[in-house]
Amino acid sequence: MNDKNLKEDFTPPAATGAHDIKVLERPNSAETSLKIVDLTLEVPGGQDVLIHKGNLHLQSGDRIALTGANGSGKSSLFRVSMGLWNSGNGSVKIKGQNQKDIFCASQQSRMPDTMLDGMLAYPHPADTFTPEQYESALREADYEDIIPQLPWNAVKADNIMRFCEKVISKTLAEATATITAQQANAFIKGMSTALEKHLAVPRMATAYFTGSEKTLLAKNLTSAATAQFEKRSADNTSSLMLPRRAGKKAGEKLAMNILRELDNNLVRGGRLKLSGGQVQKLVFGRIFLQKPKIMFLDEVTSALHPETAHNLYEKLVQKLPDSMIIGIIHDDSLIKFFTKHADLRDKQLTVKPVEKDAKPVSLCGQCPYKP
Ligand SMILES: Nc1ncnc2c1ncn2[C@@H]1O[C@H](COP(=O)(O)OP(=O)(O)OP(=O)(O)O)[C@@H](O)[C@H]1O
Ligand SMILES: [Mg+2]
Repeated sequence: MNDKNLKEDFTPPAATGAHDIKVLERPNSAETSLKIVDLTLEVPGGQDVLIHKGNLHLQSGDRIALTGANGSGKSSLFRVSMGLWNSGNGSVKIKGQNQKDIFCASQQSRMPDTMLDGMLAYPHPADTFTPEQYESALREADYEDIIPQLPWNAVKADNIMRFCEKVISKTLAEATATITAQQANAFIKGMSTALEKHLAVPRMATAYFTGSEKTLLAKNLTSAATAQFEKRSADNTSSLMLPRRAGKKAGEKLAMNILRELDNNLVRGGRLKLSGGQVQKLVFGRIFLQKPKIMFLDEVTSALHPETAHNLYEKLVQKLPDSMIIGIIHDDSLIKFFTKHADLRDKQLTVKPVEKDAKPVSLCGQCPYKP
């Protein structure tokens, strides 16, 4: 797998003990497969065996649900497959066409501090995909709500205007000093100059705005701020309130406040405040965007509403029927989306096919939140 990689979600163990597990990745291979042969997996540095002589052979289109009690070694099997853990012996062989075909996600995926498109494209650069591909991936991930936050949407002039009007209103409402008419003029001038000069949130300016669009936006922002300012002046004839320093400095301050808020909230996806479930929906957005051939998914729906989890797995099967999926799950009702079921119990890995239209099998005693 690449260096800049999704596997950073999986903590590697400290390097102690015997390291005899061979992990082999074969890129440029025509076939997609995962072959685990006689894998004995040990807790690093300890005597404990987690899996004893486990075998697994998967190819394109196989989807295997991996179940087992907490601490039985499921995530460790993923760590082994990613080359992060090699205590024990046996071998893991992964074949695929391209390293980009291998995808992994834990239940708490970390998001890079980038704009939303960068989060979805990760570990690939944001310009790997087109805006249409991003938007359709988010629709497939049932996450249409976040489409307006994609940078090219977030910086649309009317979105910016709506957002900035709120910032202006809030800033003026919090103001605390009185000013003269002369200072008021200086305020507007200072604000207008600063907006024009600094309206250059890095990617916004270069990728989404031409020079004239930028000037127009600065002008519109200035008129919006001026209109609000004048309305407040009319409402407070004797004492208009402004942030401590009146005049030019206050105008500049307001402009910078607008631009900072714009950068923090609309443009920089890394500052999006996402819940655990929303991050998991973004992980599915990543999957639908990147269309990986091999996926290691470690409880990637644990924070989602059960209906959402089912919808997403259903779409995954529909949209990427030829991908190979190894999915750790604790919710047995998800097993129907898989073709095989590997259960890890008493250090033994038992693999069975999943019958079509199978009723959820009981993972009793293993599932901490069984209905
Ligand atoms: N980075 C690590 N270094 C050393 N030991 C570890 C590491 N991660 C896990 N272990 C140990 O390996 C054992 C198996 O952990 P693992 O994370 O594989 O369990 P799991 O089956 O995924 O459990 P859960 O269902 O709770 O996620 C545990 O006893 C754990 O303490
Ligand atoms: Mg785990």
